[in-house]
Order: sequence, then C-alpha cells, then structure tokens
Amino acid sequence: MKTPEKIYTVAVAGLGKRGTHHAEAVSKNPRLKLVGLCDIDPVRLDAAKQKFGVSHASTEVDKVLGDTKPDIFMFCTLPHIRLPLIKAGIGAGVKLIAYEKPVATSMNEGLEMYKLLRESGVKTVVSHQHRYGEHYQKVKEIIECGAIGRVHTVYGHATGWMMHMMSHMVEYTSWYNNNSDVEWVAGQAAGIEKFTDVHSSPDHICAMIQYANGVRGVIECGAGAPDVPEVDAWWRKCRIGAQGTEGFAEVLTGGGWRAVMKHGAMSGPGGMDYEHDMPPYIQDIVNWLDDPKQIHPCNGETAMKGFQVMMAACRSVVQRGKVKLPLGEGEPELEALKRVLS
Ligand SMILES: NC(=O)c1ccc[n+]([C@@H]2O[C@H](COP(=O)([O-])OP(=O)(O)OC[C@H]3O[C@@H](n4cnc5c(N)ncnc54)[C@H](O)[C@@H]3O)[C@@H](O)[C@H]2O)c1
Repeated sequence: MKTPEKIYTVAVAGLGKRGTHHAEAVSKNPRLKLVGLCDIDPVRLDAAKQKFGVSHASTEVDKVLGDTKPDIFMFCTLPHIRLPLIKAGIGAGVKLIAYEKPVATSMNEGLEMYKLLRESGVKTVVSHQHRYGEHYQKVKEIIECGAIGRVHTVYGHATGWMMHMMSHMVEYTSWYNNNSDVEWVAGQAAGIEKFTDVHSSPDHICAMIQYANGVRGVIECGAGAPDVPEVDAWWRKCRIGAQGTEGFAEVLTGGGWRAVMKHGAMSGPGGMDYEHDMPPYIQDIVNWLDDPKQIHPCNGETAMKGFQVMMAACRSVVQRGKVKLPLGEGEPELEALKRVLS
C-alpha cells in the first residue's frame, strides 16, 4: 500500500494583500493545511479567520506559532519587520519560513537573519514569484538555448522604487545570468522624497554590476528609470532581459516578451498574475520539504545574494566607487544614503 503523502501545516502572519494571496494559495494546495493566522489588526484578522475557516488566530505571532506548531511559517508584513519574525519562526521550530521581499532593511539585519537561519537549519523562501510567469520563463529558455549568442549584459529597470522593486530586478537579471557570483557593484542615486514611504528608498537608484563570469548587469529603479509605455500599472512597468552577441530577449512584467535572435524576431504573451504565479511557487515549497535536493528557485540564500547587490549599490553612493562583495556589517545603508542625498 502506498504511504500517504505528508500534509504540511502552515501559519500565515500579515494578512494584507500578499498575506491573503499566500493564505489562498495554501488553502488550495492539497499537501498543505492552513492552521494559524496572525495580524496585529483585529478587523483584518477576523475577516481572514472567517474567509479561511481557521480557528487559531491571534494578534500575537508567538501565540499562533506556539499554539499551532506549524511546519511552515509564512509572513507577509511590510519591510520594517523581518528579523523579529525570523526569530519567532526559528524559535517555534518550523522547517521553512516563506516571507516577502525585500529580504531585510539593512545589511546588518540580513547578516543576522541568515546567521540564525543557517545555524538552525531552517529553510527560507522569498516571494520573487514573478519568475513563474510564462513570459519570464520564455526569456530564460531563449537565453539558455543559445539563440541570442553569448550573453554579455543583463539588465532590469522598474519605475517602482528601490525597496519595492529592486529585489525583483536583481533576482531575475541574476537568474538570466545563471546566478553567477557578483564581484563588485557601483551605484548612483538621487532624491529623498521616498524615504518617508513604508518601502523607504531613494527616489531613483542605478547599479552597475560586475558578475564573476564576466557579464555586466545594469539595474535602475524609481522615478527617473525608463518608462515602459506599453504597460499600465507602475508595479508592472519593468523590463528585464539579456543582450548577447547575436540578439536580445526581454520580458515586460505586465506585457509579454520579445526577442531578436539569430533566426529572426519573435514576441509572445504573458503578464504578472498572482493567480497564475502563486500556486507553483507554493507547490515548490512542498517539493523542497519532500526532497532536500529540489531546492526552491526562490530560496532565501539566492535572494540574500541579490539583497547584497542592492545594499552594495547604496554603499557605493555613500562611499563612492566600486564596492566589492561579499559585504560585512556597516552603517545602516538607508540612513547613510539619506544623509548623503539630503
Ligand atoms: N512579491 C510580490 O509580488 C509583492 C507584491 C506586493 C507587495 N509585496 C511585499 O509584501 C509585503 C507586504 O505587502 P502588502 O501589500 O501585503 O502589505 P499590507 O499593508 O497590505 O499588509 C501587511 C499586513 O501586515 C500586518 N502586520 C504588520 N505588523 C505585523 C506583525 N507584527 N504581526 C502580524 N501582522 C502584522 C498589517 O496589519 C497588515 O495587515 C511587503 O514587503 C511588500 O513589499 C510583494
């Protein structure tokens, strides 16, 4: 007789837009059971409790984790709260923590988070789920099969600001470059208005990235980055791609893909869509817990490498010149950046 497949239990904290997406995808996956909910807002919490029919719900994360002892902890809070929730998940003995981008709010915080995670052996996944879009995958396929020749440059730009969008831009450009290590980053930035936002950021930031495999990365985020007039909403106005010796291939987050290759030009459909992208993102969490070799494409260690690139760009603006990776502890990047831009 076949052994029944394990059902993994899940608690979700932060039940706004993204927490609801997570809870919905979990409740539709037959290998997962939503057992606990948390939000500091009792009205949101109660609405989610009714919607998902979950009895364990609290405004205190430690209570939910302690009462339900889940296998998986998902948190979808705004960027200011990462380290305390990572500590809460580790303390509760979960196997995997899935959380939202950005990875952290400073290099110091990120280093502490990943030290604790490595010591405890808890896996992490960060929501860079756009890559499940058919248009993102198509561009990866075109690059992989050699149709644009030898890749020399990868690029990504978004009109959305740094702490919102740069995490996505760095993750997918690096993916298009086989997640090569990064040697150095040189950055430039302008404007302080967005420092008051919940995704506190310079208004505009650019980064030149030197990958260890010789490829150049070029990233830009915020007001001042090129518009993508083909696409409507700001969070979909991103263009990410690769240039090679025989052509280029690129994805528009909200508007399909296009490529010019040695055999001619092509384009196709696709648009960032949570309903399309969340189920496979969640299924890959199950697959990784079932089999340690099936590492999640959005694993936290890769996301942390990308986060370093973002922090290196900030440090470059402050210190001037190239910043070599890996980064150690230092002055919190956002505060330092705000000081030099003011
Ligand atoms: N991956 C993506 O495509 C994508 C898209 C949008 C937003 N995001 C990211 O998702 C995160 C959340 O964004 P959102 O738009 O869902 O925000 P939101 O404001 O809609 O939801 C956040 C929720 O967290 C709750 N919260 C705050 N502190 C808490 C705590 N200590 N314990 C429990 N709950 C707490 C808030 O009450 C709120 O309900 C952000 O980091 C954002 O950058 C990712």
